[in-house]
Amino acid sequence: MDIKIIRNESPAQLPDENALGFGEIFTDHMFVADYDDASGWHDFRIVPYGPISLSPAAAVFHYGAEVFEGLKAYRTPDGGVQLFRPMENGLRLARSCERIGIPAFPAEDTVRAVEELVRLDSRWVPGKDGTSLYIRPFVFSTDENLSLHGVHRAMYVIVCSPSGIYFGLDPVKIMLETEDVRAVRGGTGEAKCGGNYAASNRAADRAAELGYTQVLWLDGVERKYIEEVGAMNVMFKISSKVVTPKLTGSILPGITRKSCIELIRSWGIEVEERLLSIDELVEAAESGALEEAWGCGTAAVISPIGQFCYLGKEHVINDMKTGELSKRLFDELTGIQYGKRPDPFGWTVRL
Ligand code: PLP
Ligand code: COI
Repeated sequence: MDIKIIRNESPAQLPDENALGFGEIFTDHMFVADYDDASGWHDFRIVPYGPISLSPAAAVFHYGAEVFEGLKAYRTPDGGVQLFRPMENGLRLARSCERIGIPAFPAEDTVRAVEELVRLDSRWVPGKDGTSLYIRPFVFSTDENLSLHGVHRAMYVIVCSPSGIYFGLDPVKIMLETEDVRAVRGGTGEAKCGGNYAASNRAADRAAELGYTQVLWLDGVERKYIEEVGAMNVMFKISSKVVTPKLTGSILPGITRKSCIELIRSWGIEVEERLLSIDELVEAAESGALEEAWGCGTAAVISPIGQFCYLGKEHVINDMKTGELSKRLFDELTGIQYGKRPDPFGWTVRL
């Protein structure tokens, strides 16, 4: 892959690192590539960040053929910049493309493109505690045709956004969603596609109106088994073991989830990837066996859950305090990501 670089001649002023939100400001450049059946993926370029011009008939607007990724670049104590498991994101993006019928972009080319782009915009990687450069690769269909006919033209774009802390380590309150489902087995739950997030909006709005930060999703078939929390994977510490929903096809295989499982097992704590019913969870909460709960994902890293509401009843977890294992995971993961602790698994890629 040959990447042509057209530099931004009017680079922007860097934002105040103390006032960074999430995904609100973008760097000077973006990566772009085009696909059509005749040429495959081609015209790889890094260009000044700016609007994209598309036909109103572009299929993405009508039929939602879009997939995306999210990863971060971190500023290390010696002033360097590193990525966390970028190949995992490249591989997941290729799998998501495959599920939606978009021609896959090779994982190693995603990693190359991210590396080149972040290198060029490295001054944008913030250094303040908890901040990072959020990297958002996305692929969408640009077919200019309203008939439903598969994806024959597509565009791949990567943008970067200096971002602050998403949730922090304060435990959040969540609500069990009993009406809407996020995804179903055989559907698109295990792909990171825009449609899954659109399907989640209504429940998230309802939960927010009632004062909850996130929705706890149940499976779409039996409405019985716990799947994810908001846009994060979810884990529970029950009777000294960690239980996390197994990847049934409707759950996104999170890279933070995978990293947590590897870390927890390396600490000699048992992790069960299995079906976990809401009844079992309520019972564990009532008997005191439920010791901790947390969501995990790239944006928030670890987000402790202090309370969940099911059928109008509130269940408090660990007195609404951040649990020991949640904190240990957060410290270890962020320690590795920011290059402040050793990286025994070889997860980081230094630029
Ligand atoms: N589940 C959903 C629905 C997500 O959107 C995300 C975020 O990317 C995750 C889980 C966590 O995945 P990861 O740890 O790879 O960021
Ligand atoms: C995550 O990174 O954990 C996310 O869920 C990202 C979100 C903004 C879609």
